[in-house]
Amino acid sequence: TAPLRLAIVGLGTVGAGVIRLLEVNGDLVARRAGRRIEVVAISARDRNKDRGVDLSAYEWVDDMGSLATRNDIDTVVELIGGSDGPALTLARQCLGQGKPFVTANKAMIAHHGLDLAREAERTGVALKYEAAVAGGVPVIKGLREGAAANRIMRVYGILNGTCNFILSTMERDGTAFADVLEDAQAKGYAEADPTFDIDGIDAAHKLSILASLAFGTEIDFPDVDITGIRHVLAADIREAAALGYKIRLVGMAECEAEGGENVGLFQRVHPMLVPTDHPLAHVDGALNAVVAEGNFVGRLFFQGPGAGEGPTASAVVADIIDIARDEYGPAFAMPAEWLQRQVKADAGQR
Ligand code: NAP
Ligand code: HSE
Repeated sequence: TAPLRLAIVGLGTVGAGVIRLLEVNGDLVARRAGRRIEVVAISARDRNKDRGVDLSAYEWVDDMGSLATRNDIDTVVELIGGSDGPALTLARQCLGQGKPFVTANKAMIAHHGLDLAREAERTGVALKYEAAVAGGVPVIKGLREGAAANRIMRVYGILNGTCNFILSTMERDGTAFADVLEDAQAKGYAEADPTFDIDGIDAAHKLSILASLAFGTEIDFPDVDITGIRHVLAADIREAAALGYKIRLVGMAECEAEGGENVGLFQRVHPMLVPTDHPLAHVDGALNAVVAEGNFVGRLFFQGPGAGEGPTASAVVADIIDIARDEYGPAFAMPAEWLQRQVKADAGQR
C-alpha cells in the first residue's frame, strides 16, 4: 500500500515531538496504520533553529499555502497555534482543496471549528483534532465515538496542564506562582502566550469543544463564564487544605433536556474547591481529567498527561493513523448541519 505522505507545519514542542515519535515508533505505527507514514515536507518560521531532531531528510517549505494543492502531500498537520492568522488560513486552504487536515489547535477549533467542519464535509475529507483537548488523553475519540450512543447531561474536568501543574506544585512545595509558571513553560506545557493558560481561556476553548461533542450542540466559546488562577495564593491553597479541599481549575458544562431536546446550556471555568476524596483532587502535575455522565454508560472518567511533547505527539499521530486507515467521520458529534444551536441557560437559575 502507498505510504501516507505528510507535511508538518510548526516545529515547536509538538511538531518536533511528532517527528521524534515517527522516528522512534515508525515501524509500529506503520503496522497499526496499515501503511508507512512518511514526512515529506516541513515548515516553521526559522529554518535555522536547532529543534533537537534531524530534519535534513525533509523538504523545507516557505510557502505553506502551496501544501494545499500539492499532489505529493496526502495530509497536512498544523502545529503552529493561534485562533486566526496563518493556522486558520492554512486550514481553510487545505480543507477547501480537499486535503485532510490534522491540528492540535484548540483556539482555532473553539473559534472556527464549525466552519472548518462544514468545509471538510463539503470536500469530503478528514478534520482531526484529538490533541486539542487534554493532550494525550483520547477524550475526543471517547466522547465522539465511545459514548456516541448516550445522552450526556454533564461534562467536566481539569483541562489545563499548566494550571494544574502550578496549583499542585504550589500545594506541595509552597512555591510562588511566578516561579512555577516558568517551570511549566520550560517543560513545554504552556501556550506561546501563557496568559491563555493562567486566565482560563485555554481551558474554556477545550470546554466549549467538549460541550459540543457531548451535547451535539454548536461550539459556543463566547458563552463560557471564565475565571483563571492568577489570583490564587499559596495561603488560599493552605487554607483550603485545612478544610479538606484542594484548589483545582475546573471546567464544567451542563445541558438540560426536556422531552429529549436540549433546553439550556451552562459552561464555566473557575478555580474550584474540590473535596480531597473526589477523584479530581488526585489529578496532579500536568495531568488532565475529564468526567462525562451518560444515560446508559454511567460515569466515564478519562485521565492522563494533558500537555507536553510526548503525550501531545501521541494524540496527533493517533489522528494521522485514523486518516491512513481511512477511518474518520464528521469532525464533531454529527454532521455540522445537524448540530443544535445553543439554547443558553439563564445563569440566574443556577
Ligand atoms: P510552540 O512550541 O510555540 O511551536 C509553534 C511552532 O509554530 C514553532 O515551530 C514556530 O516556528 C511555528 N510558527 C509560529 N508562527 C508561525 C508562522 N507565522 N508561520 C510558520 N510557523 C510558525 O507551540 P507548541 O507548544 O508546539 O503548540 C503547537 C500547537 O499545539 C498549538 O496550537 C498548541 O495550543 C497546541 N498544543 C500544545 C500542547 C503542548 O503541550 N505544548 C498540547 C496540546 C496542544 P519557529 O519554531 O520557527 O519559531
Ligand atoms: N497549554 C496547554 C495546557 C497545553 O497547559 O494544558 C495542552 O493543551
